[in-house]
Amino acid sequence: MAADIPWEALFQQAAKVRERAHVPYSRFPVGAAILFEDGSVVTGCNVENATYGLTVCAERGAFVSAVAQGHSRPVAVAIVVDTPTPCPPCGMCRQVMAEFAGPDLPIRSRTLQGEEARYALRELLPYAFTRDFL
Ligand code: THU
Repeated sequence: MAADIPWEALFQQAAKVRERAHVPYSRFPVGAAILFEDGSVVTGCNVENATYGLTVCAERGAFVSAVAQGHSRPVAVAIVVDTPTPCPPCGMCRQVMAEFAGPDLPIRSRTLQGEEARYALRELLPYAFTRDFL
């Protein structure tokens, strides 16, 4: 599957949705695109709030939308940021990814300049807490 992932298309969609980010406080727009097993792609951008703690990251926003749209088997996640080096997903988003994907989930983050980092979920969230413990 890894070889079949249309990373360029995913990054393009992540870059596009990033432009919709609501970031009046951090001015740090992030875009995310998730590819699902059935070929669907769901995107998300970060949405901040005057009550700062209510901020929803791009990745989590995308997962929440995806569930509402009936997609729950992610096979790849692409993230776009405008930083000197690619930015990995935050801890909360890693945990949300672990709810829906196994440890092999490939996650790639790219800057607007084209620098890229590649991860597997297991590297970002070793010893994930999952439903297996419940
Ligand atoms: N943010 C994301 O949307 N995704 C990440 O992977 C890291 C951080 C957002 C949250 C907040 O709106 C802004 O970036 C600065 O932390």
